[in-house]
Amino acid sequence: MKSLYFILFCCICLYSCEKKVKKSRLRAVRWWTLAHAESMNNMVVPQTQIQNPTSLPLTRKQRNLVSKNPGSIRAVYQGAKQAILECKYQFKNRRWNCPTYESGRGVSVFGKILQKGCRETAFIYAITSAAISHAVARACATGTIYTCTCDYSAKPPGHETVTPDSSNWKWGGCSDNAKFGHKFGRRFVDVVEKGQDIRYMMNLHNNAAGRVHVTSQMTQACKCHGMSGSCQIKTCWMKLPTFRRVGDLLKDRFDGASRVLPGNAGSDRRRRRKFTFTPKFTFTPFDPNHKAPSKKDLVYFEKSPEFCNQNNNIGFKGTVGRECNDTSLGLEGCDLMCCGRGHKTQTYMVVERCNCTFRWCCEVMCEACRITKMKHTCL
Ligand SMILES: *[C@@H]1O[C@H](CO)[C@@H](O)[C@H](O)[C@H]1NC(C)=O
Ligand SMILES: *[C@@H]1O[C@H](CO)[C@@H](O)[C@H](O)[C@H]1NC(C)=O
Repeated sequence: MKSLYFILFCCICLYSCEKKVKKSRLRAVRWWTLAHAESMNNMVVPQTQIQNPTSLPLTRKQRNLVSKNPGSIRAVYQGAKQAILECKYQFKNRRWNCPTYESGRGVSVFGKILQKGCRETAFIYAITSAAISHAVARACATGTIYTCTCDYSAKPPGHETVTPDSSNWKWGGCSDNAKFGHKFGRRFVDVVEKGQDIRYMMNLHNNAAGRVHVTSQMTQACKCHGMSGSCQIKTCWMKLPTFRRVGDLLKDRFDGASRVLPGNAGSDRRRRRKFTFTPKFTFTPFDPNHKAPSKKDLVYFEKSPEFCNQNNNIGFKGTVGRECNDTSLGLEGCDLMCCGRGHKTQTYMVVERCNCTFRWCCEVMCEACRITKMKHTCL
């Protein structure tokens, strides 16, 4: 009898421990909810919240960082919002279309998919991390963060050795401050990850991969100041890639993400210590014929669910009712999108401007045409 109680006791302990781990993981990424906070009142962050960051969904360290860098919270808001928009854009044609949820009560913006270690999880971490670095680097250059400015020393790789007298080219334009963005992003984003397990390593790696795609994509821009627009004198600076470009690149990495092996040294979840030195961690590829992932690769350790039917474990609705393309053979095609369940087709009319002609001067005349369109949705 005693031993039965003991076993029961152990079960309860393990269960609550497991729950704690999951809960802390969701709590860890609360800053993503900032994206919704902004959209709700359409205005930027209320001034009181900026001055009193204790009301923000941040950890203590994040709050300190934000307080030390006045103005940075706006960039964090914008970054979180942009990350969500970009994720939805990149995945609009896939079964998993980056659904987000009204946050609050411990629910993460991206939902329970974060408890998995699959490609989608990897992408979420990378895109949100990239967005913070991107938004902060830009904010520095526009002067909205008090503790950073334009980067006046940024030069394209290999340019450092050129002597400035060789022409009238001048560096010293106002570059986006990728260095500051990178540093701030690392401190703001990585600080919430705790532990020593593969998931911790995976999140940190994907966070870093996101940032690398921002900093490595800086391009040179120049402006000519010579007489009548000649380029005898010009100023050059380094500018960030558009966030769409970062999203495209990360989506490519998603498609070619590296599956790695869990169960490496330190994979025991319960052996979590508070301040541990992070050893240099190398991932072992799942397929021994694959090379180890590079800094830019996304890594994951768990196969993705099929994302066909409702799955409460990951809080996914399934693809019933999703729009699909009945002629495409790709992922957005009805066959794959609807997982073989079939689809229904509805026709509907739209009125569009058509047959537009230009009339001198200056008018565009159009006809109103009724067009029949078809919409296919998964059963
Ligand atoms: C459907 O797929 C076909 C073939 O890939 C493409 O040409 C067409 O533009 C798509 N239709 C829509 C509405 O996206
Ligand atoms: C556009 O105009 C031409 C000639 O006026 C007409 O034949 C054609 O049907 C019009 N197209 C549409 C879509 O209404």
